[in-house]
Amino acid sequence: MVQTGAHIIAVGNEKGGSGKSTTALHLAVYLLHQGHRVATIDVDSRQQTLTRYVRNRRNTVETTGHQVPMPRHVHLPTAWGDSIRENQRAELDIFTKAIEGLRGEVDFIVIDTPGFDGNLARLAHGFADTLVTPVNDSMIDLDVLARVDPVSGEPIETSPYSRNVQKARAERLANTGKGIDWVLVRNRISNLGSRNASQVQNTIERVAARLGCRVADGIAERVIFRSLFPVGMTVFDPLNADLLGGAPSMSHVNARQEYRSLVAALQLPVSATVSGPMRLSA
Ligand SMILES: Nc1ncnc2c1ncn2[C@@H]1O[C@H](COP(=O)(O)OP(=O)(O)OP(=O)(O)O)[C@@H](O)[C@H]1O
Ligand SMILES: [Mg+2]
Repeated sequence: MVQTGAHIIAVGNEKGGSGKSTTALHLAVYLLHQGHRVATIDVDSRQQTLTRYVRNRRNTVETTGHQVPMPRHVHLPTAWGDSIRENQRAELDIFTKAIEGLRGEVDFIVIDTPGFDGNLARLAHGFADTLVTPVNDSMIDLDVLARVDPVSGEPIETSPYSRNVQKARAERLANTGKGIDWVLVRNRISNLGSRNASQVQNTIERVAARLGCRVADGIAERVIFRSLFPVGMTVFDPLNADLLGGAPSMSHVNARQEYRSLVAALQLPVSATVSGPMRLSA
């Protein structure tokens, strides 16, 4: 296992569409605006959402002439040879080289993983100092973490994904003496308070206690996230209509506050990161 000076944040959940790529870019851009050097790694070969997000960001900078901070971005492809063992070896090799190449260059490495199990996703979890798992705000999505008794709401059995994370944690502890700080975050929370919302909150806290992880305050459901992707922007970028591809709104400001709370909850190893002033020209 590579020792790295940079703090590695993996964003993972085997459930597709839970908000991993959106969260990964938001964390990276927040840290950039705080003055940190940040790299992003995309190991989702199939969708490459984070890679496209960063590319869209670069295009917006070129077409509008406005400057926004950019992460150093790396896309790690899946190996497609005939031998599984050879593929795994090749993937470990490119992963290790990428981390080694970045570790002295940046303060944070944010890794986006695919919504399915695979060797690169497992490697990303194994390298993580912090693992952020966005969970869509529904009981169905909680099922990817643990099977829950429908009557008592008590977690009965951990899911394959949670078992993989626990295995990665145990291996990392044995190899490096460091665990993985695992933080769950509810995403796309309905603005209308509902019975489902309180049931999800209640259950996620029980699941977190069972898995030995923490729960951060969540991110609300907001249509602005749809329009941020095509221009490669986040709610932390200047609230400028040219950059956003449309007029800024209170939704941007509120989402910014929620993501700030998420970063604070992560307790990243830089005090300025959680309490310092945002350098945003809003
Ligand atoms: N808080 C939110 N409110 C509304 N829409 C959101 C929110 N977060 C993410 N989305 C939208 O949900 C969709 C899925 O998000 P994203 O691509 O980040 O998920 P993912 O977990 O990376 O998906 P995959 O597993 O396919 O990689 C996107 O259309 C995104 O814009
Ligand atoms: Mg994704």
